[in-house]
Amino acid sequence: MSVPQTLDDLGEIAGQVALVRVDFNVPIGEDGAVGDDTRLRASLPTVMALRRRGAVVLLLSHLGRPKGKPTAAFSLAPVAQAYSSLLGDEVHFLEDWTGAGAKRAVSELEAGDVALLENTRFYAGEESNGPELASAMADLADFYVNDAFSASHRAHASTVGVARLLPSYMGRALQDELGALQEAIGHGREPSTAIIGGAKISSKLDVLEQLSTKVDNLIIGGAMANTFLAALKKPIGKSLAERNLEDAALRILKSASQGKCQIHLPEDVVVARELTPHPVSLRTALVEDVAADEMILDLGPRTVAKTVDVLRSSQLLIWNGPLGAFETPPFETSTFAIAQAAAELTRKGSLISLAGGGDTLAALNKSGLTADLTHVSTGGGAFLEWVAGIALPGLQVLT
Ligand code: 3PG
Repeated sequence: MSVPQTLDDLGEIAGQVALVRVDFNVPIGEDGAVGDDTRLRASLPTVMALRRRGAVVLLLSHLGRPKGKPTAAFSLAPVAQAYSSLLGDEVHFLEDWTGAGAKRAVSELEAGDVALLENTRFYAGEESNGPELASAMADLADFYVNDAFSASHRAHASTVGVARLLPSYMGRALQDELGALQEAIGHGREPSTAIIGGAKISSKLDVLEQLSTKVDNLIIGGAMANTFLAALKKPIGKSLAERNLEDAALRILKSASQGKCQIHLPEDVVVARELTPHPVSLRTALVEDVAADEMILDLGPRTVAKTVDVLRSSQLLIWNGPLGAFETPPFETSTFAIAQAAAELTRKGSLISLAGGGDTLAALNKSGLTADLTHVSTGGGAFLEWVAGIALPGLQVLT
């Protein structure tokens, strides 16, 4: 396996067309405006470097999960507008980039021009890594740059197929992300703790299994914890859970108990009968004591205190997923308290803290503590798979 090439390995590129895979999978508000532009900003160093050297820059991204069909709600058109404001220059938008006119439209672009191609997931061949779609992408450009760490866990046409057909390079954001992650966990810091929250086990099953073989402590919160509690026959009332995955949850608990990993599940929780701001039915309960008409909406104070104790004796934290329904007050309490503890320990130098994932980032931004952690990844699934030691196909193909 060779070392991936970076933009520093590119020769003369003036007049050449660069196809850059970015991750512009960003929240779009009801008003059609981009909600959080972190991912757009992350791509600027690569795009600026290529422009400065006289390349035409074609940006390739997915948005949402339109399942292979053009869907207006998932159009990248509003993102092209937001990107144009960030760049302070025109961003062309290529709605149809596979048809007969696509090559002509690209050939009309001039050195330094930037164009965003419509959502790759409007084509069925994207997620199936179809050779025809990968060829249509490759036909437009002279070389390919992957600058989308957060999409590199997908073996899709725009992350893997096209990279096999063109000379391929890592972009600056991808390089920085990998550098920061390697730096943070490269020294094998122990004891290590992973905090995994969020709603679904189904999307994180492999990662949970892998992580339970790698870290010393696995703290499970968020709605995901409910599935584990239900599997252990605790009453979870009307809480969100994936009942069909109770066996998987038990398997993870069993394999962790045979290894060195200690799994921590909530001991107490904050419950309410409805998910509204400050509901009158709100109370703290032991996990044995949740009523049939209640929902678990946050971790309780005892569980938070225990989690903070685990962090105090840890050297490395890997965090993905909020621990409660953080968008509705006061169910952000445990997520904020744990973010606060992680930030303090990081500032003191006793903890290396890594966090990733869209909701995690939103929760951290809301708490104002993002900058206090060692590194906050742009990736969600990609971040988790990378830290769990699973090879990312979009990175493998570059080597
Ligand atoms: C993300 O937001 O984590 C990436 O853009 C990947 O999106 P996906 O989970 O829809 O593939």
